[in-house]
Amino acid sequence: MRTQVAIIGAGPAGLLLSHLLGAAGVESVVLETRSQEYVLARIRAGILEDTSVRLLESVGLADRLRRESMPHRGIYLQWPGERHHLDFVDLVGRGIHVYGQTDLTRDLVDARERAGQALVYEVTGTAPHDIDTDRPSVTYVDRDGNPGRVEADVVVGCDGSFGPSRQAIPEDRRRTWERAYPYAWLGVLADVAPSTDELIYARHPDGFAMHSMRSDTVSRLYLQVPPGEDIAAWSDDRIWTALGTRLDVDGWTLTPGPITEKSVLPMRAAVTGPMRHGRLFLAGDAAHIVPPTGAKGLNLAIADVAVLAPAVTALLRGDERLAAEYATTAARRVWRCQHFSWWMTTMLHTGDDPFDEQVQLAQLRWVVESEAGARGLAENYTGLTLDGA
Ligand code: FAD
Ligand code: DHB
Repeated sequence: MRTQVAIIGAGPAGLLLSHLLGAAGVESVVLETRSQEYVLARIRAGILEDTSVRLLESVGLADRLRRESMPHRGIYLQWPGERHHLDFVDLVGRGIHVYGQTDLTRDLVDARERAGQALVYEVTGTAPHDIDTDRPSVTYVDRDGNPGRVEADVVVGCDGSFGPSRQAIPEDRRRTWERAYPYAWLGVLADVAPSTDELIYARHPDGFAMHSMRSDTVSRLYLQVPPGEDIAAWSDDRIWTALGTRLDVDGWTLTPGPITEKSVLPMRAAVTGPMRHGRLFLAGDAAHIVPPTGAKGLNLAIADVAVLAPAVTALLRGDERLAAEYATTAARRVWRCQHFSWWMTTMLHTGDDPFDEQVQLAQLRWVVESEAGARGLAENYTGLTLDGA
């Protein structure tokens, strides 16, 4: 098979990139290890920055998002006895949207199908080749066991944090920066109306807790747990009791309901660079993962491909300039988000160091009491503009 851009991975990065390239008249083929049903059912992130929503709108991908997403003005920050609202719209003139990654993925898959662009599911053994030449390719084995090859002008690795693409960059050119956080999140989806109008991020001596949502009838909640925690140790009752304790403030009650999904997510940060080698480009989790506090993972994947699509389009027309800048431009935003995610994570998660506890409380108070502090959080949470990458 011959195409202009071979994309490895049908997560948000790969699907959106294929759409953006299509809008610019560039043909692509997306190769994905999982089945379409699996890709559409994965439950992950839930917050879109204003910047991400505007990008999706500008390429005709926001019809359902506009109808069904929940626009939020800000978040609540909480510690025992106190809950404070930060109004991002007042602080920086823009808010956020609650819209499940599952919904966004469905919009992207629908758009790919409408455009008739090739999406090959259930492939194995994907491997990039000849990325140092201008005729790179990707080999794979299809679901019937037949070998396949996509010949392209450019290969883009959008294959997430476990994918093989970044290993194709020669070891002596590649660098990875990593941080394992000493916590994990236990995440649940529950069929119950949210007990809050906007997200609550709570620091509590028992551990961090968060109340998010997916719709008027579905809540999404998280609890800090030790890394490697066994989900079997958490009955639904234990989960609701812990959430009730950690999210408690006077005059407010958490309404429990049937839990429909629960899982433990490790908290890790990693950045691999450079995000380009020859005709191979990396985007999204394939190049970087952030801890989830601050909701940056999905938005960063969107921002990468927003910068990459015009760069690849220009490269195919013989103009190298934007492609040459991609790795540097993308890495600047990645590290800004890495810093913000680290800052939010270390402010809100509980360890056993009493000094850290006092510093965290001082930081929380500063954020809610100082307009400069609140504005800093709001500016990062709602997202940088794309040209300010
Ligand atoms: P992915 O969504 O990981 O997509 C990569 C795709 O590549 C997948 O479809 C995968 O199947 C495919 N693939 C992998 N290997 C191959 C291969 N060899 N060949 C072909 N295809 C391959 N972010 C937040 O902001 N908030 C959250 O609450 C949050 N929760 C998360 C929960 C979980 C369990 C995980 C894993 C991530 C979570 N994230 C969260 C992060 C966010 O979901 C990711 O940042 C986002 O999905 C990145 O999109 P992506 O397209 O780069 O990668
Ligand atoms: C959600 C996830 C996050 O990591 C976050 O910071 C806010 C919300 C969510 O899944 O809704």
